[in-house]
Amino acid sequence: MKIAILGSGGREHAIADKISNSQKLKKLYCIPGNAGTEHIAENINLDISNFKELGKFVEEKKIDLIIVGPEKPLVEGVVDFLSRKGVKVFGPNKTCAQLEGSKIFTKKICKQYNIPTAKFGVFKSSKDAHKFLENAKKPIVIKADGLAAGKGVYICENTESAKMAVDEIFNGKFGIANQVLVEEFLEGEEMSYFVITDGKTFNKFNTAQDHKRVGEGDKGKNTGGMGAYSPSGLINKELDLKIIDKIVKPTFAAIKDIGESYKGFLYIGLMIKNNDPYLIEYNVRMGDPECQTILPLLDSDLLDIIVSCCENNLNSQEIRWKSKKSICIVLCANGYPEKYKKNVEISNLDKVTTSNNTFIYHAGTELINKKVYSIGGRVLNFVTISDNLKAARENLLKKINNLAWKDGFYRKDIGFKIIDK
Ligand code: AMP
Ligand code: GLY
Repeated sequence: MKIAILGSGGREHAIADKISNSQKLKKLYCIPGNAGTEHIAENINLDISNFKELGKFVEEKKIDLIIVGPEKPLVEGVVDFLSRKGVKVFGPNKTCAQLEGSKIFTKKICKQYNIPTAKFGVFKSSKDAHKFLENAKKPIVIKADGLAAGKGVYICENTESAKMAVDEIFNGKFGIANQVLVEEFLEGEEMSYFVITDGKTFNKFNTAQDHKRVGEGDKGKNTGGMGAYSPSGLINKELDLKIIDKIVKPTFAAIKDIGESYKGFLYIGLMIKNNDPYLIEYNVRMGDPECQTILPLLDSDLLDIIVSCCENNLNSQEIRWKSKKSICIVLCANGYPEKYKKNVEISNLDKVTTSNNTFIYHAGTELINKKVYSIGGRVLNFVTISDNLKAARENLLKKINNLAWKDGFYRKDIGFKIIDK
């Protein structure tokens, strides 16, 4: 098969790496890819928001299957556009992608189908929201409706900061806004739960926990994710059943009821309290860095699974997992998630060894004249699978130390909730 993967992050490198081991693969393209995918695929420098150009490429190269990594093209309808060209596309269509593209769309489904989630209100004006906030319990959560690259959520300790958040959203910080979501603050521990579906049946696709804050001890600014481990320490049989029965099944029922069928990965962001799950958010794709942590544990052929989803026969596939644990540490450019330098060379990469159990997935990197340069905030993902997470983390920290990239930083405490307790 000729396959193209859309995206340029660690998630897409991890997917490309798995796919590159498949018997069915004839040619792999990554659009645009990164310095890591360059070794296992042909990188194509196209803008993935430009559907017309993508369509031309797909036709010219006679691509059989496109795998969409990030949420933005999904929410903008890349699946609908490319499917019309008769090519297999793995990912949800534009309507289904609203599960991530509109937080209010998802909240309304939760309400209608009795899915456990934070209590909420939708306000159409700053004035109404302010009035409600005067007497509401704090902390309180204010959210922009649409995609905001992980920045549209404010956890507010007092009325004043909550009002400011509402004003920022209505003033267009995340694009034109005519409504704002106000949510009850949920206590508990977060966990990411994944499923894969062809629209008829779904399969679990493991669990993970990520560390979104930039600083050790989960302190400081929010980021795309500084590291992750899989499986989550929270998951157990009873919780698993509750997630499936109270959240996953009613959501797919809601999608069916609007006459749609969801194809692809679904990332279920949960708050767990007293072994009960509450939906925080949906993402219509794999997580990053959760994907880098989960895929090395997969013991089945990823391409077979994805193709079966596109052909509506996922139930023919067995999805097996290695009985190991996995941990990922993200090496970031100094300054991230604020301002950071770009185009800094990363030498020594060839001196850091990888193996069947240890992987380096690139994110914001580019290969220029055979040298690797950083071009993003999150630069490299160091991943290892092992029976022992503590030893695994030490091994990764040694490798990052060997790389000795003075322009980068990383968290040394990934997985602390289960490793250091
Ligand atoms: P989201 O973009 O919806 O995932 O929100 C980003 C982060 O904000 C989540 O990962 C949570 O840590 C936090 N968060 C969002 N909604 C709530 C809530 N209702 N209660 C507590 N924390 C929340
Ligand atoms: N790691 C969080 C996300 O992918 O959205």
